[in-house]
Amino acid sequence: MSDSKFHLKRLMFSIASLVDLGQEATSSKDLSAKMKSALYVITGTFSVPRAALFVYHPKHRSLELLADKGYKESAHQEIKLSVLPQHIKHFHVNEPHSIHEMVGSPFYERNDQVFSKLQTRLFIPLFAKDEFVGAIALGKKLGRESFRQNEKDVLRVVAHQMAITLYNVTLFGELTKKAAENKKLYESMRRIYHDTVQAFSAAIDAKDGYTKDHSYRVACYAVAIARELRWKKMDVEGLYVAGLLHDIGKIIIDTKVIKKGEGLTTLEKNEINKHPQISYDILSKIKFPWKNIERFVLHHHERLDGKGYPDALRSTELSDGEKILALVDAFDAMTTDRPYRDKLGLDEAFKEVLKCGGTQFDEQITSTFFNLLLRELSGEVKDPQILPHLRSNGTDPSAPNWAWVQASGSPSGSCRDKRENSDPLFSRFESRVEDSGKQPQGSWTRPLYVTRHK
Ligand SMILES: [Fe+2]
Repeated sequence: MSDSKFHLKRLMFSIASLVDLGQEATSSKDLSAKMKSALYVITGTFSVPRAALFVYHPKHRSLELLADKGYKESAHQEIKLSVLPQHIKHFHVNEPHSIHEMVGSPFYERNDQVFSKLQTRLFIPLFAKDEFVGAIALGKKLGRESFRQNEKDVLRVVAHQMAITLYNVTLFGELTKKAAENKKLYESMRRIYHDTVQAFSAAIDAKDGYTKDHSYRVACYAVAIARELRWKKMDVEGLYVAGLLHDIGKIIIDTKVIKKGEGLTTLEKNEINKHPQISYDILSKIKFPWKNIERFVLHHHERLDGKGYPDALRSTELSDGEKILALVDAFDAMTTDRPYRDKLGLDEAFKEVLKCGGTQFDEQITSTFFNLLLRELSGEVKDPQILPHLRSNGTDPSAPNWAWVQASGSPSGSCRDKRENSDPLFSRFESRVEDSGKQPQGSWTRPLYVTRHK
């Protein structure tokens, strides 16, 4: 075979290996495996038994081994090149540098021992988008002849391709690292947020010894319903926070009035009835990462029949979140002892809530809540969300007589409204409309929404 034919064949082989290299570079392998395969293509193409690929770490000012061929694993730790920014300025972009020409340069002198260990003949600095990203060090060829110009030309193209791959992967790695750091930061901020909200909620409940943990239970019950209704995780979290803070407005109401329970004067009732609006005023000044918290809080004493407060909204104007809070707030009040009455048993509480279905409470939300509780009582649910709180609040966890509850609780229309209701459980926070004889003056005038998260 003539010399020119032989070189043409070598060149064709080089081009074919470039195609292989492109496939390796774009494969889904991890960076190290991808680079190792690419290095094997190069060493095979140019008959070089030893080669090393380095990635540049600007912080460490070093070229660290990413992949190699032909070196003992025990020597890997020593294969590291020190590189200073002033050295990089002298590198030619993706250009194969003959090691003989580098002798005497500050970069070579700094790393001469490593170069001799590697038996380096060619050093190729890798650049992508004007950034130094790594280097390839090729050992001597099998035939010991030097690299020809056409081989160096092919290597320049190879180097460019490998530099781009390295750049993209390291950039992606950096972005992933940054994203992970941001996630960690966000998680810790969320924890602080939750702890602060929890502390506030404890402060609210501490105003009245009888309502200890009321806000926490309301939040947990609300979450249980929202999960049953398949709300998005972020929305469930928002409802939890709204549950914890729904009574925050009580913090500025006279403790004596809050603890009084029964025999409240009209003035005192009006005072207490201001708490959702105060809660709204406080919370609307905070930029929460969750939506609708202040709205949920503002309307947790609204009723479907428009007899609630502060805005006397009707069913279609209330969102699920507001309806859920209204239900679980009342349910927890029923199942908690107060100074003026003992708590209701589960049978009684079920009956009371069912009586108010369609007038005070949303029937679908009520049945979602009670069905979950019944499933928890029957032992069907692996991780109960309601029962543990009922138990810790001293409520008898035995299953209610469901048939009896359904028979005795008429589904709608017979809910005691304020006029006939002597139980402070309901009357204490009843409609401001009747107490004041005026139309409610809610600050909420924008159209409300009804969201079904299905
Ligand atoms: Fe309240």
